[in-house]
Amino acid sequence: MCGIVGYVGSDNARDYIIDGLKKLEYRGYDSAGIALQTEDGIIVRKKKGKIANLEQEISGEKLYGNTGIGHTRWATHGAPSDINSHPHISEDESIAIVHNGIVENYMDLKKWLNDEHGIVFKTETDSEVIAQLISVLNKGDLEEAVYQAVSMMRGAYAFGVISKNEPNKIIAYRKDAPLIAGLGKGCNFIASDIPALLKYLNKIYLIENDELVICTPDRVEIKNKEGQTVKRDILQVNWSLEDAEKDGYEHFMLKEIHEQPKAIRETLTRRLDENDNIFLDGISLTKEELENFNKVYIVACGTAYHAGLVGKYVIEKMARIPVEVDIASEFRYRDPFVDDKTLFIAISQSGETLDTLAALREAKSKGARILSVVNVVGSSVARESDDVFYTWAGPEIAVASTKAYTTQLICMYLIALYMGRLRETISDEYYNSILSELKATPAKIEKILDKAGEIENLAKYLYNRTNVFFIGRGLDSAVAYEGSLKLKEISYINSFAIAAGELKHGTIALMEPETIVISLATQDSLFEKMLSNIVEVKARMAHVVSVAKEGNTKIEESSTEVIYIPQCTDEVSPLLTVVPLQLFAYYVAREKGEDIDKPRNLAKSVTVE
Ligand code: M6R
Repeated sequence: MCGIVGYVGSDNARDYIIDGLKKLEYRGYDSAGIALQTEDGIIVRKKKGKIANLEQEISGEKLYGNTGIGHTRWATHGAPSDINSHPHISEDESIAIVHNGIVENYMDLKKWLNDEHGIVFKTETDSEVIAQLISVLNKGDLEEAVYQAVSMMRGAYAFGVISKNEPNKIIAYRKDAPLIAGLGKGCNFIASDIPALLKYLNKIYLIENDELVICTPDRVEIKNKEGQTVKRDILQVNWSLEDAEKDGYEHFMLKEIHEQPKAIRETLTRRLDENDNIFLDGISLTKEELENFNKVYIVACGTAYHAGLVGKYVIEKMARIPVEVDIASEFRYRDPFVDDKTLFIAISQSGETLDTLAALREAKSKGARILSVVNVVGSSVARESDDVFYTWAGPEIAVASTKAYTTQLICMYLIALYMGRLRETISDEYYNSILSELKATPAKIEKILDKAGEIENLAKYLYNRTNVFFIGRGLDSAVAYEGSLKLKEISYINSFAIAAGELKHGTIALMEPETIVISLATQDSLFEKMLSNIVEVKARMAHVVSVAKEGNTKIEESSTEVIYIPQCTDEVSPLLTVVPLQLFAYYVAREKGEDIDKPRNLAKSVTVE
C-alpha cells in the first residue's frame, strides 16, 4: 500500500502534492512526507501520523519548488516514525525517492552499498536502498541509473525519483504496484491512483509493469524495460471530483452506503439489454467454453471473499457446477486443483490486492481461464485477466468496503444467471423472476436507508458492548461474516461470525447477559431452524438483535429487537440484509468516536503480502 504523488510544472509543487496525498490517505496514513527540488537543493519534510501532521509541520515555512514528490505511508519495514517516513534521500542528498511496495532483496543491497560504497543507512526501511542505490549508480544520467537500479532490485514496487542535478524532471518506475501518469496543462503528474489527480485533470496514462516514466512540465514519456519509447492510449477518466469527495456526508463510508442503490442500478443496467438478456460485452466466454468447465474457483480477500461466499451459493444453485471459494493468501500456497477446465474468478475492488493478484497468476500458470470482478478500471487484476466484469460502484474511498460488496454481489448473480441459462440449468421463468428481484433491490435498499435512524438509536444504546456474534444459516451465514468484519474493522469491537447450526458445537459456551447476538433470519426456507437457534442464545440471556423480512413477526417473540428488511426471495436477500449491518457498524463506530474512514492499522488497498 502507501500512496505516491509527484508534480512537475510551473506552480509550487507543494500544494498539488499535499492535496493529492489527502486523496490517497486511504492507502495508508502512518506518516507522510514531501521532497521538493529547490534553489538550495532537495528539501525533505516528513512526519509520523496523518497528512494533517505534515501540513502543520510545514505550515509556517516558505517551501517552494516547481518539482516534487510526496508519500503517505502504511508501514511494512520499520515502525511508523518520522525517520522511517518517505521521501528518502541519499547520503549525498542528490536523490530523493518515494516508494510503494517492498524491495525483497533490500538486505543484500544494503550490505553491498555499505561494503562497496560505505553508505550508512539512516532508516529501518527497505525503501531507503532505492535512493542510495540510484545515487551511487548515477553517473550523470538519472534515467540510466534508474534502469540499473531496478535491474538489481527484486520485489513489487512503484517509485518516483527526483535528482538535485536534473531539475524539472520526475522519473518513475513500476513493477507490480500501481502507478499512473497524469497529463495536465503545463504540468504533469505521477500518482498511485486516480483520485489524487481528479481535481486537476482527467487524462491519464496507465503505466504497465516494467515501464519507466519520464515527466517534465511539457512531456510524459513512457519507456519499456529495454529503454524503447512505448505508445500508450490516453485514458479519459469520467469520475467526477465530487464522486471522490464526501458530498455533504460526515464520512465517506456513510456516503458510500447511501450510494448503493445507484451503484447497483449502474452495474445492472450496463449488463442488461432492452429484453433483459445479460450481455457480457468485452467478455469472450462462449457456450462451448462454459460447458467445458468442470469447476469454478472464486478467490479473493476480506469483503470481496465474502461476496465470493454468496457467489458459490448462487452459481452452484443456478448453474449446477461445483464452486470452491478460497482466501487468496491461502490459495496461492496450497497447490490447488486447478487446470484448463477451471473457471477462476478473482474478485477485487481495487484490483491491486497483492494476494489476489498472486493467486490469479498461480491459477493462470495452471491453465485456468481468468475472469475478474473488479471496480478500478485498468488495475493490475483487470489487466492480467482474460476477461473482466467491472462493478460500477465508482471510487470507494472508505477503508470499510460497502458499495463494492453489493455491486460484487450483483456480478455474482449475473454470472450465475448467465451460466445457468447457457448451461440450460434454469428455466426462463426463474431467470426472469431473479432478474426482476435484482432490479427491485435499489428501491428496497432506499427503504432501509430511510429507516437508518432506528439503527442509529440501536447503536447509541449498544455501542459500549465488547462481544458481538453474527449468526445465520445458508446465505445469511455468508452475510454474517461480512457484518462481523464491518463492525470489527471500524469499531474495534471483538466480533465473530458463525453459521448458526455450529453454535451448539462450542461457541454457545461464550453466551452471557452482556453478549450481543445479531441473528440473520432472512431465509424463508431456514426460518424455523433459525428461530430455534435464536431461542437457544436467548435462553443464555444474550441480547438478540434479529434481521428478518417484513411480515415474519413471529421472530419478535424470541428477539430483543428486530430490524425488518423488505420482502424478497431468499436468493437476493444478501443485497438487503447487509445494509442494516453496514449502518450498525457505522453508527457504533461513530458513537465510539473512532476514525471511521481510516481505521487503525488498515489501508484501503493491500498491495503487500
Ligand atoms: O481491493 P480488494 O477488494 O481486493 O480488497 C480486499 C480486502 O482487503 C478488503 O475487502 C478489506 O477486507 C476491506 N477493508 C473490508 O471492508
